[in-house]
Amino acid sequence: MPGVTNGAAVPPFAGAGNLIYRSAVVPRFVRGSGCFLEADDGRRYLDAEAANGTVALGYDASILQEAARRCLDLPALPSFCESPLRLGVLERLERLFSDVLGTPGRVELDLGGAQGMETALRIAFSANGPGTVVVFEGAFHGRSGITSMLSASPRYRELLAAWGLEVVRLPSPDCRTCPHAAASQDGCRTGCVGAVTRWGSELSGVGGPGFGRKASAFVFEAVQNVGGMVVPDPGLLRAAVAHARAQGAVVIADEIFTGMHRVGPRWGFELAGVEPDVVVTSKGLSNGGAALSAVWAREPLADADHYPPGSHSSTFVGIPHALAVVDTVLDRWEGWKSVRSDVAALAEGLRTRLTGLAADHPAVIDRVDATGGTARIVLSGPHAPRLRQLCATAHPDLGLLVAATGMAPDVINIHPPLVITPDELDRMTEVLDLALGVLDGERPHA
Ligand SMILES: Cc1ncc(COP(=O)(O)O)c(C=O)c1O
Repeated sequence: MPGVTNGAAVPPFAGAGNLIYRSAVVPRFVRGSGCFLEADDGRRYLDAEAANGTVALGYDASILQEAARRCLDLPALPSFCESPLRLGVLERLERLFSDVLGTPGRVELDLGGAQGMETALRIAFSANGPGTVVVFEGAFHGRSGITSMLSASPRYRELLAAWGLEVVRLPSPDCRTCPHAAASQDGCRTGCVGAVTRWGSELSGVGGPGFGRKASAFVFEAVQNVGGMVVPDPGLLRAAVAHARAQGAVVIADEIFTGMHRVGPRWGFELAGVEPDVVVTSKGLSNGGAALSAVWAREPLADADHYPPGSHSSTFVGIPHALAVVDTVLDRWEGWKSVRSDVAALAEGLRTRLTGLAADHPAVIDRVDATGGTARIVLSGPHAPRLRQLCATAHPDLGLLVAATGMAPDVINIHPPLVITPDELDRMTEVLDLALGVLDGERPHA
């Protein structure tokens, strides 16, 4: 067995249900700085998944210190009270969307990603009436009762789900698993586009215009993170969005992961050139320092006539601490003038290094891809959980944190802090190289 044991056993008082790494032994982290975390046994870990994609700016204590200063005079506030801090943050957030989409909107706040998605659905249902929600196969929109209905894996619905919600799944936008791929040289052709633009007819099971009960919302991710870092073909996404609009559905972009330059531009939907009606974002707004999501809806979807006061509330929505964190993080984003070219350079750095690894480990790596600050290693089989474990333990001095999901057990997801340096990418590659070597050695050889 290679490497070191990492971490300590989970104590009996700690509930096990939300330990998503499904391991009885886990490192106990005590500090973080830049792209590194340190455990209480002194072992260092390079975080190549940026705390679920939240710490785009790296582990940076000065953000929280600065945020604390901004809310010292207003340490708490009931959710029904207004503050200049809240209004200031809402105004800044609104501009992030309307500057790109070229049309004004309104911003609602919520607690986390799943809650933000539910708020987006409330806005859509308020406009259209409750109806079918159309999503892609491989989608991930959260694990609350409602959003678990939208997320692809049936595992999420085992214990709690909103079975009354009608959800229709369009075929996966992943060209890698598309049955038409063999016949198509240059992206999605008639078969794929036809498959995502058929709903709404008498035959499809979903009502279109003229039906009382029809699709109220079409929800998409510009890059499916949990689904295995899938980048939909831009033509396919454009066709799906145009069709959804023609059917009268509100188009909702889930930018909880992809927002704030994670995939290159500020918003992932810019990659395909589509223009959603509602956008939900979260992780990049607080750099992991507060639970908060923002939901932007183009005018007039969230005005008082369409989404009346009292449509939704929650005790901790908009607490000063969370707003001060967002205010501080937005300053950091505004100050990062070269972010787009820096993220483009990161994509190139990831692509070059992973391509090298694929050449060195052809028996275990099928392909690699990089888009902005995300990348994936597609393995030759469902080895991602094992490789993720090896990344943490294979190197004597340095653990590496990467992501693997139940929905794509052959894919390692990489999405480091966007501020990762070329030297740190080299360290990441060094650990991956070791771990891949061990994985290859473990496979039964003919
Ligand atoms: C695309 C996407 N949607 C929704 C969610 C759910 O967000 P949360 O975990 O904050 O509920 C996530 C979280 O990973 C996500 O990546």
